[in-house]
Amino acid sequence: MLKTLLKQIGSFKTASILTPVFISLEVVMGVLIPYVTSWIIDEGIAKSHLGNVYKYGAIMLVLAAMSMLFGILAGRFSALASSGFARNLRAAMFRNIQTFSFSNIDKFSSAGLVTRMTTDVNNLQNAFQMLLRVSVRAPLNLIFCILMCVFINTHMSTIFVVALVILGTVLYLIISRTVKLFTQVFKKYDDLNNVVQENVSAIRVVKAFVREDYENKKFSKAARALYGLFVKTESLMALNHPVMMIVVYGCIISLSWFGAKHIVGGDLTTGQLTSLFTYVMTILSALMMLSMIFVQLTMSAASGKRVAEVINEKADIVNPENPVMTVPDGSIDFENVKFTYNKTGAPPTPATLLAGQNVAAISDCDYAVNDVNLHIDSGETIGIIGGTGCGKSTLAMLISRMYDVSSGSIKVGGVDVRDYDLETLRNNVSMVLQQNVLFSGTVLDNLRWGKSDATLEECKHACRLACADEFIEEMPDGYDSVIEQGGTNVSGGQKQRLCIARALLKSPKVLVLDDSTSACDTATDARISKALRDYMPEVTKVIVAQRVHSVMHANRIIVMESGRITGFDTHDNLLKTNDIYREIYTIQTQDSGDFDKPK
Ligand SMILES: Nc1ncnc2c1ncn2[C@@H]1O[C@H](COP(=O)(O)OP(=O)(O)O)[C@@H](O)[C@H]1O
Ligand SMILES: [Mg+2]
Repeated sequence: MLKTLLKQIGSFKTASILTPVFISLEVVMGVLIPYVTSWIIDEGIAKSHLGNVYKYGAIMLVLAAMSMLFGILAGRFSALASSGFARNLRAAMFRNIQTFSFSNIDKFSSAGLVTRMTTDVNNLQNAFQMLLRVSVRAPLNLIFCILMCVFINTHMSTIFVVALVILGTVLYLIISRTVKLFTQVFKKYDDLNNVVQENVSAIRVVKAFVREDYENKKFSKAARALYGLFVKTESLMALNHPVMMIVVYGCIISLSWFGAKHIVGGDLTTGQLTSLFTYVMTILSALMMLSMIFVQLTMSAASGKRVAEVINEKADIVNPENPVMTVPDGSIDFENVKFTYNKTGAPPTPATLLAGQNVAAISDCDYAVNDVNLHIDSGETIGIIGGTGCGKSTLAMLISRMYDVSSGSIKVGGVDVRDYDLETLRNNVSMVLQQNVLFSGTVLDNLRWGKSDATLEECKHACRLACADEFIEEMPDGYDSVIEQGGTNVSGGQKQRLCIARALLKSPKVLVLDDSTSACDTATDARISKALRDYMPEVTKVIVAQRVHSVMHANRIIVMESGRITGFDTHDNLLKTNDIYREIYTIQTQDSGDFDKPK
């Protein structure tokens, strides 16, 4: 993990090295200043020698100015290094996420990826900046100040040893407990983020189901848990300060007590005692800083792990070595295809672990698509129908290799989909996904996602086929109207028609529509199907639908149940031979069944 993260420092290596260099210089200057103070007091004030006060005063000013300059430089470089580190981390994650297949994304969840790119990277950025600044400053301060103290008066420095031991023990006790608590805090943070993200992205559903109260309660619960833990952690952390103060004042009192004796004895000057006071403060605060950075590093270790996971994740669908760059035609073959989302099988039970079998077999019901054999001719229109969760979307997504089959093979144009160049395949097998989105931008921008150099005429043609032209022309700016983020300012049916038009612009050989007209009325649905049949006869059309009306005019219809195909024939034949199809048809064509059937 550390290697992955450190690699991202990249071009900001110089800044990362310069920061500690300047900090060391700043520390050296800072350490020398109290020493010069003791000269001013002893040589100048005590001896009433104004010349010496000026001379040492001038030296002190120069040292202070240099210390400030080095401090400013160190600050600037540490900011540069840590912001650059964060930028590189985000870029590396984003670049890798673009290569992810659906199953990679399923693994992290979209919300999880967002948290990793924001909160976790912020944590790392702060930790890195602190590490650059404090990890050099604190130990250096500690060492130099102790050396100076020993140099000034060996006897008196035993006081520090006692103080260090006391402070060290107490800090250790506090920190070991806070670190434990902080780990819990971060878990609670994740919970809270999940609640917020789920709620905000599904706010329409929440409102539609009047679940605001329930959601509020859920949120309060997550927030309260976090609050409780934070109070506990922060109260513990707050103990640091009083403990440190007790030790500091203890040191000052002991210093004054023993210092007075030494001054009377003649082996310590007033000036030296003054500088000892300054050093004791510096030493103890260096110790505090070290303890803080320890807490910060432990906190960000979890974030580091989460970020590194995303950077190191290998996309599980990649281009083959010698990819096929053309799709000959739109025929589709499924040969003994099985597919499961659950790659590892059921989690091992203690019994299987004891028996040494840690990979449990995948049971039959784990398959979302099971034993599928099909041949679809180029240019055919195929309907897929079946209950929710029976595997229709999964079957459709396998064609454009959104997921790889678990066993068996799928061919498009007679070539295994795994042998194609991914871009070629997906340009030729155009999919309108069930959960489809539009992006912020104009209608035309969105259409040109399908084909970046499409002319206005081409776009209009695609929209006519998808029956989208009618409402686009009614929009205030026509094809230049702005679509809000996620397509919130168009209706569900309009969004679906835009998505279909966008897919048509690719001029694919295979067009897969996954429940893409579910929000359109039956009449529009029928017009779209007819337009596709009439104007794109050579394109293979796979139409997944819940409504019999959407598929009954297809050349052949696939009926699915629990991942298996129970029928693959024409509408008329299926009515005679397939019980499930007949049942769906009867329910939906009864007057009460299809409420939007044209009268
Ligand atoms: N991303 C996923 N991860 C795990 N399981 C999934 C995923 N998507 C779908 N499934 C499961 O696979 C089965 C088939 O789903 P799907 O193909 O979406 O059905 P349909 O489109 O017919 O409603 C369902 O049991 C569903 O719960
Ligand atoms: Mg589906």
